[in-house]
Amino acid sequence: MNQEPPDQRQRPSETDSQSDMDENESARRTPAGAVTDLGAVTDPYRDAGVPQLPKLITEVPGPKSRDLFRRDQTLLAAGGSAGSLWSELAVSEGRGAMIRDADGNWLLDACAGTVVMNLGHGHPAVAEALGAQAGRLTHFYDFATRIRGDFAEALQGVLPPSLEAFHFANSGSEAVEAALRMVRSATGRHEVIAFHNAFHGRTLGALSLTTGAGREGLGPLLSGVFHTPAPDPSAMPDMDEAERVEACTRHLERLSSQLLTGPPAAVIIEPLQGAGGMIPIPAGFLERLRAFCDHTGALLVFDEILTGGGRTGRMWAFEHSGVVPDLLLAGKGIGGGFPIGVMAGPRDVMDAGPGALPTHNSSTFGGNPLACAAGLAALTAMLDEGLVENAARVGAHLMESLRRRLAPRRGAADVRGLGLAIGVELVTGRASRTPAPEDFIRAVLRGLLRRGVVISSTGPVMRITPPLCLTVPQADYIARALDETLAELELTDP
Ligand SMILES: Cc1ncc(COP(=O)(O)O)c(C=O)c1O
Repeated sequence: MNQEPPDQRQRPSETDSQSDMDENESARRTPAGAVTDLGAVTDPYRDAGVPQLPKLITEVPGPKSRDLFRRDQTLLAAGGSAGSLWSELAVSEGRGAMIRDADGNWLLDACAGTVVMNLGHGHPAVAEALGAQAGRLTHFYDFATRIRGDFAEALQGVLPPSLEAFHFANSGSEAVEAALRMVRSATGRHEVIAFHNAFHGRTLGALSLTTGAGREGLGPLLSGVFHTPAPDPSAMPDMDEAERVEACTRHLERLSSQLLTGPPAAVIIEPLQGAGGMIPIPAGFLERLRAFCDHTGALLVFDEILTGGGRTGRMWAFEHSGVVPDLLLAGKGIGGGFPIGVMAGPRDVMDAGPGALPTHNSSTFGGNPLACAAGLAALTAMLDEGLVENAARVGAHLMESLRRRLAPRRGAADVRGLGLAIGVELVTGRASRTPAPEDFIRAVLRGLLRRGVVISSTGPVMRITPPLCLTVPQADYIARALDETLAELELTDP
């Protein structure tokens, strides 16, 4: 073990890290949690003794983290996230964009606990709302409650008028399952078209829509699910965006014309493909999907489980295009850290067919009062604190900073995304753009961790998705930590 104090050895130096910051920014800071005239949110936890940048007192992971990690290995089933396995980190508390590990190190959360803690950790409004609701009513099946209605009305307030009725579930995958039932029920058809690189969850219906390695050995999956290419620049490098949109539209139409039972029940897409590589789908393609669905009677489903709740710098990623889906799915970031899934749609679709008969769409816990209390508090705080705007501004700053810093690094080919949904493509060399192998990606994750930055993604496109309250100095720290990590790996692998 290296005996140097980790604080001095691993962290990007504070003066350097702060050099990216607008020099007037600290002068403009306003009271806790407020938005400056720069648009950047100030650190609401400054006065609570929580550092804004990593503060390391042991190596990371430290001995207590490793002990807790090892105990978990003896207690839990295998197959947990590679991010948690590679990190060997045990987490004990969180405030804003900072988390504290079991050894007392303060670390910068660059993944928002895998794209969930949009509001930031330990927000007092969520804690208060959960405490008050738990003292009043924790659960009573799906009977009417004031808090569920209040949350649904708050969601209506941030959605277009057509997305007016809600089905509540307990996770993103469950919302996807609800959508699969709903599109069958409402259209009387059963075939569904999804896209290459899609990730929609791990329950068997959602897994059928998902592509990639997570499905190995788990078949047979749902029949009637077909995948077609999405306009992904790295899969179609010789075309410009308009040509990709055109080619993918033609693929979709050809596939649809070959389905046995006529046009599909639904087309489902993530407006920014997350796990598949942080690929923003061009507005032009979403418009073509809207036209296709209008023409064929298929329902257009946007899975915004990763992108919803302000992540992309708009409340919903579809707002970047103006294309409104028939069904919108949300989860992750809209529950303030409490497990939740939401499907929103027009009243006539949500009420259509046998799926709408009493009990056919019920759920024991969906719409649970605690989940709704947390969701309502998180949404209110997010709007009050201007976090969606902050995601747009600090996200643009972070993306620019990453692009500038990583330009000379041969291990990083592309930086892309929207708002604070950012992907960095890790490669073996810029020219070949061959995806980086697992040991390199693991070394990057561990290098970041040693510098006090936590990420959860383990694919060749690293996902950087910090809480939306991220400040400019925190963004600069992440960019610098990644740059230093890649530089270090270049030295060891010339
Ligand atoms: C786009 C998308 N859909 C669905 C899911 C599944 O959500 P959950 O893990 O809450 O079941 C995820 C999770 O990462 C996701 O990113």
